[in-house]
Amino acid sequence: MLEHTIRNQMWIGNEWVDAADGGTFATTNPATGEKIADIASAQTADVDRAVASSREAARSSGWRDMNPHKRSKLLWKLADAIEANADELAALETADNGKPFFESRKVDLPSVVENFRYFAGLADKVQGGTIPVAGPFFNYTLREPIGVVGCITPWNFPLSLAAWKIAPALACGNAVVLKPAEQTPLTALRLAELAGEVGFPPGVLNVIPGFGETAGAALVLHPDVDAIAFTGSTEVGKIVMRAAAETLKKVSLELGGKSPNIVLADADVKDAVRGATTGIFYGKGEVCAAGSRVLVERAIYDDFVTAFAERAEKMTVGDPMNPDTRLGAIVSEEQLERVMGYIEAGKQEGARLVAGGERTTVNGKGNFVTATVFADVDPQMRIAQEEIFGPVAAVIPVEDMADAIEKANQSSYGLAAGVWTRDVGKAHRVAKELQAGTVWINTYNQYDSASPFGGYKQSGFGRDLGYEAALEKYTQVKSVWVAMDR
Ligand code: NAI
Ligand code: MG
Repeated sequence: MLEHTIRNQMWIGNEWVDAADGGTFATTNPATGEKIADIASAQTADVDRAVASSREAARSSGWRDMNPHKRSKLLWKLADAIEANADELAALETADNGKPFFESRKVDLPSVVENFRYFAGLADKVQGGTIPVAGPFFNYTLREPIGVVGCITPWNFPLSLAAWKIAPALACGNAVVLKPAEQTPLTALRLAELAGEVGFPPGVLNVIPGFGETAGAALVLHPDVDAIAFTGSTEVGKIVMRAAAETLKKVSLELGGKSPNIVLADADVKDAVRGATTGIFYGKGEVCAAGSRVLVERAIYDDFVTAFAERAEKMTVGDPMNPDTRLGAIVSEEQLERVMGYIEAGKQEGARLVAGGERTTVNGKGNFVTATVFADVDPQMRIAQEEIFGPVAAVIPVEDMADAIEKANQSSYGLAAGVWTRDVGKAHRVAKELQAGTVWINTYNQYDSASPFGGYKQSGFGRDLGYEAALEKYTQVKSVWVAMDR
């Protein structure tokens, strides 16, 4: 294990503090089952304290009226600090989440750095306009921060998803209270400390680890929180939206998915197999945009299934800290049971298991599941409808492009989708017809700080990434009228 600093208290007002009642919860390494640390568990009193601190920061001239170039520079300095500590942060992420070090170090960390730099560039470009209104008036708009933003994030990309929210929220001049997932609090705490070190004023970023039903719920209900930016399950997204209605907070929800990955008969099958493999097995399938439904045109179906199963069998699990490992440990015992429950359901509903399907261990320890492929899946089966959030692909045969589109859209979700074809016309037609916030053509799982990401249908609303989405989500517009005739 690489050197790393474990912080186990709450970060409020640029200081480490215990929970008011002294309570803690354990965070464990899912690859070994060993406890990493006991972490302060925020309760309502702690949420009150963090929100009060952020409220003061949001109001203070030191942050609200900070020279925007300086705000930009602070975000850039934080990016530099993350980059300088990337090995450590990646090791923390892998220990807490179980994802391969390859992923946390080579994919997550560089993207987090890029994210802070991208939004550093936005900080001094948040501007209003002048509007040509009727009458002797001068009308202009001010684009102002919302105030205190409560961010609630899940365990699958703990640092990346925190960055997706914190970076734009801070760039727009808000103060943030972040509640990371109880399974994976470590990197967010370290990030907060780095923010303090590079000079963010106290209260601009507070991090309160704790459980959803306590800390998360209190944050959503708090009258002094102006907006909630949430990523997590659709089930909890609905609870959050209902609770936020009490105080009419601005809410954005990035929720689950059951994303279709369509392979048409004219696709480069080798490429498509590779894309289907990374689409579902990257991040152990614990990815909101995972290509968990693979829709394959009948003409190439048998060849595809054989090649996909072979490739899945080669995706062996391993110690996440081994740089060669590509399939890590399932985040928690609870999630492992969920995944195994779905594998059982797939078998019972009559889908054909062609790869994996086993619970396993590495060095006799940990929560591992082999890369699993079900073929001949009926679109109505549970494994084709419900988000599994694990390394389990459901391959569904389709007759042609029209059938593929129809089946792809037979889902309550609409987060992402993929299509594999050599026909440029078909590619764009399918992209237009799919009900999804992101469509990948002849690729899968591409992200960039500049490109908006978020859901259609019950995958939520509001977008992460991209400057337009950030302005929409983290600012509000004030219209100012000036009489010109007196
Ligand atoms: P979850 O939705 O319960 O957790 C996400 C975040 O919400 C965590 O920080 C949690 O503490 C918080 N939370 C939970 N209940 C809350 C409440 N009542 N009020 C405010 N915040 C609350 O997700 P969970 O239970 O960890 O995973 C269950 C399933 O959800 C997964 O199997 C997967 O299908 C889906 N999921 C989807 C994610 C995505 O990226 N779209 C991320 C995590 C889970
Ligand atoms: Mg939960």
